[in-house]
Amino acid sequence: MAPRSIIIDCDPGQDDAVALFLAMASPDELELLGITTVAGNVPLALTERNARMMCDIAKSSAPVFAGCAKPMLRDAISAEYIHGETGINGIDVFEPETPLQDQHAVDFIIDTLLGDKVTVTLIPTGPLTNIATAIKKNPEILPRIEEIVIMGGAMREGGNRTPSAEFNILVDPHAADVVLNCGRPITLMGLDVTHRVLSTEERVARIGALNNPVADATVGMLSFFHRYDTEKYSSQGTPLHDPCTVAYLLQPELFKTKCCNVAVETESELTTGHTAVDFWHVTDRTRNVNWAYDIDADGFYALLTERLGRFPL
Ligand code: RIB
Ligand code: CA
Repeated sequence: MAPRSIIIDCDPGQDDAVALFLAMASPDELELLGITTVAGNVPLALTERNARMMCDIAKSSAPVFAGCAKPMLRDAISAEYIHGETGINGIDVFEPETPLQDQHAVDFIIDTLLGDKVTVTLIPTGPLTNIATAIKKNPEILPRIEEIVIMGGAMREGGNRTPSAEFNILVDPHAADVVLNCGRPITLMGLDVTHRVLSTEERVARIGALNNPVADATVGMLSFFHRYDTEKYSSQGTPLHDPCTVAYLLQPELFKTKCCNVAVETESELTTGHTAVDFWHVTDRTRNVNWAYDIDADGFYALLTERLGRFPL
């Protein structure tokens, strides 16, 4: 079967970086047409540089594009307190050889979707500003979107940046509202899933034993990334949020999902960015989202470790 054409829209971010590695390690299943970057964990100048660094480390030829530097309406917020001032603390930063493409990420998304690929799957792992901007700028792209597999939102897990909101949705709730109501197939991986895939010492050690540059970079980044979450959640390791999206495309059987309505709060200062998941169908609102609510964590790490092991020593 031909590989699925994908664009990863991200804000690296250690976990975004691992999602990129997982996709780059899976060319038989996924054709990575491009990496678009957005302001999120750290400002755009760093997220685009970090994405290009990952291309160098993984020796990927995927083109990298810079997108929106701020949310559609709200002021930008970031997360250096989690990811470090570089956004990928845990590895030494270098100036990547992978160039930044001149084209704006939003225009790359539009041109690619209107191009010769029959359909494209979008994988946003940061705020949804680029995706929503592309949809509003040229709605003709909508029929060419095969599926949007998003890391964002929360139901039972509550928020991780406010009591009510998960970071990606909180940064740009207006963009999330546009995307979740665009009418295309959406699978949403929230904290209810990602908080179950903790990077325990044993799991990280298995990745470290692979002894290739990509696995080494992964271990370095996770060694920094988990310090905040282990203290906050007193958990053994940190939730590996973003690779869950790519894993879903590779092995959907690892996940439990349910089609239901998900709506985003965009007005209230107290609960802005909250994803109201109508899991028990108590309203007659359109069931617009395939909501992921459980994952086989050991199966996820077995997949991730096997794929990272494919990179050359
Ligand atoms: O809330 C987790 C999400 O916010 C992840 O995508 C992480 O990279 C940050 O962007
Ligand atoms: Ca991210």
